Amino acid sequence: MLKRPIYLDCNATTPIDERVLKTMLPYFTEHFGNPASITHQYGWEAEAAVKKAREILATGINTTPEEIIFTSGATEANNLAIKGIAEAYFNKGRHIITIATEHNAVLDPCTYLQNLGFEVTYLPVNTDGIIDLTSLETALRKDTILVSIMAANNEIGVLQPLARIGEICKENSILFHTDAAQAIGKIPLDVQAMNIDLMSLTAHKIYGPKGIGAIYVRRRHPRVKLASQIHGGGHERGMRSGTLCTPQIVGFGKAVEVALAEMESETKRLTSLRQKLWEKLQTLENIFLNGHPTERLSGNLNISVEGVDGQALLLGLQSVMAVSSGSACTSAKVAPSHVLQALGRSEKLAYASVRFGIGRFNTVQEIDMVSEQAITTIKSLRQANRSQKSTVKTN
Ligand SMILES: Cc1ncc(COP(=O)(O)O)c(C=O)c1O
Repeated sequence: MLKRPIYLDCNATTPIDERVLKTMLPYFTEHFGNPASITHQYGWEAEAAVKKAREILATGINTTPEEIIFTSGATEANNLAIKGIAEAYFNKGRHIITIATEHNAVLDPCTYLQNLGFEVTYLPVNTDGIIDLTSLETALRKDTILVSIMAANNEIGVLQPLARIGEICKENSILFHTDAAQAIGKIPLDVQAMNIDLMSLTAHKIYGPKGIGAIYVRRRHPRVKLASQIHGGGHERGMRSGTLCTPQIVGFGKAVEVALAEMESETKRLTSLRQKLWEKLQTLENIFLNGHPTERLSGNLNISVEGVDGQALLLGLQSVMAVSSGSACTSAKVAPSHVLQALGRSEKLAYASVRFGIGRFNTVQEIDMVSEQAITTIKSLRQANRSQKSTVKTN
């Protein structure tokens, strides 16, 4: 079999951990029951497995199982949070605050609501990708019903100061939603200590299956009202109808359990791999780090490279490593990343960017190979550019 490139795109998705898969398998075959079937053993078995996963998730973010609603992923969770709050609270106000570097799964529901007459403030970020808390305080209005600010950015890994944002929202009695798709299992999350009212989660960034996520919805102090966006059998306390996918839910629970148990040691290991890669790349000149140097996910390194063409750079790396430029969800569109532009990067540098997403199964040897290949590719592209320019001059 041909050797495949080294996978370094863990902010896009991750492979399923064997331990997770093993836990899931019996729920496809032996324990296939519908968790909503309350009249027989098949249903009870499935319901018990869903209950366990719900408890793991709840404990993981310091809440109760009743406050966890399963969804198909973080995209659905974000849609439910933003549209569900808008619909439930529109009599109170029609103003929402978010930030310029959010994932499209937050930005697009906001645009949708703007078309319906809501007002949305998109806060800028500093050059390191972190928001300015004073600008958040200034943006709050009497009719603000929701602040939606992500926990960790999918492109540059930057972490937002959730606890301070939560404090500001609480002081002003405004609901706080955070998209924690990239953060769960990677950084400590505590919805009580951080005053978070709604949180979107997903399994596939932490070695769990794709197509399963959840939303945490606060039930006390305050009790959050949420208008359902999918109507049907009244599952998930009426907030999200549809038969629960037991194997995926079981896998999600196991993925969170493993990630939390290994979070401390894994954070140290990934930070050292990232540092190694960054140090090696810095032996070249004019390579820029995108996002805060330390307030970021341990496995994320995002760089911009001067003097090369973005597409040529990715092409040059492709045979050895699987990396991406900008967000994986938008890389089908050839447009410079809105996140990098929000940091103030020029269009050229935004194009010439590479996101390395280092994960659980990457090794030191792989990082050595990747850095060597990246350095060789960048040097040869720069050399080719220089020769091309000098040829144009002499012609
Ligand atoms: C920050 C962020 N939010 C939302 C999503 C969407 O998550 P899902 O793939 O579970 O719908 C992603 C995935 O790329 C993400 O990185």
